[in-house]
Amino acid sequence: MDIMDAVRERHSVRKYTDKPIEGETLHGLLAVIDECNRESGLHIQLVKDEKAFDCLKARYGRFSGVANYIALVGKDTPELYELVGYYGEKIVIRAQMLGLSTCWVAGTYKKIPGAFDAEPEEKLTAVISVGYGANKGVQHRSKKPEKVAPDYDTAPEWFRKGVDAALLAPTAINQQKFMFLYNGGKVSAQALRGPYSMIDLGIVKYHFEIGSGKGRDVWK
Ligand SMILES: Cc1cc2nc3c(=O)[nH]c(=O)nc-3n(C[C@H](O)[C@H](O)[C@H](O)COP(=O)(O)O)c2cc1C
Repeated sequence: MDIMDAVRERHSVRKYTDKPIEGETLHGLLAVIDECNRESGLHIQLVKDEKAFDCLKARYGRFSGVANYIALVGKDTPELYELVGYYGEKIVIRAQMLGLSTCWVAGTYKKIPGAFDAEPEEKLTAVISVGYGANKGVQHRSKKPEKVAPDYDTAPEWFRKGVDAALLAPTAINQQKFMFLYNGGKVSAQALRGPYSMIDLGIVKYHFEIGSGKGRDVWK
């Protein structure tokens, strides 16, 4: 599966089978987590067989069978949320390529102290459930590209492809509160007001880079 297939096929999955993550798949998942931590300085961890989804909030959120999640931990700085969004989504897309399903979760879980490591200056921002999905999820409803990118019709094709990929990204309550502006070959990306919209910003910037084929130097 190539990376754009993974972007297209990824949907949030909240119901999992009891098949454990092991062998090459586990190895691949741990490898991308390691790679992200080395690049970002974050302290992201895979938590296996734990009880964060065994609570009323998670049942209300329609989660079942969650045996593993990724704890998005990092130093409590102003950049933390965008950073977690970017690298968390890199892990999500790699998980999809490994045949796993995921769901970003900032609200409908319970923090279990001791289940993950966090230094005193670090904080758990959100988690991502991960495992073999009992279903493939469904395509979310989406805003029109012109709504999130006023330059969509006049900008180059790579910009349009980047915006299209961003609109396929997960966002909190599917709010899609972001904006991409094209300016002389560079792009500025902004988060609008909304719950967790700074995490969303990191997520959609990662999708934009994949869709457009541009590197991190595309950002203004
Ligand atoms: C930062 C963030 C937080 C989220 N928190 C939750 C949550 O607490 N509970 C939940 O069920 N889904 C949560 N989601 C999943 C979104 O509802 C989902 O991504 C969105 O509806 C789009 O659907 P899709 O991921 O299938 O494309 C969250 C997503 C993001 C990006």
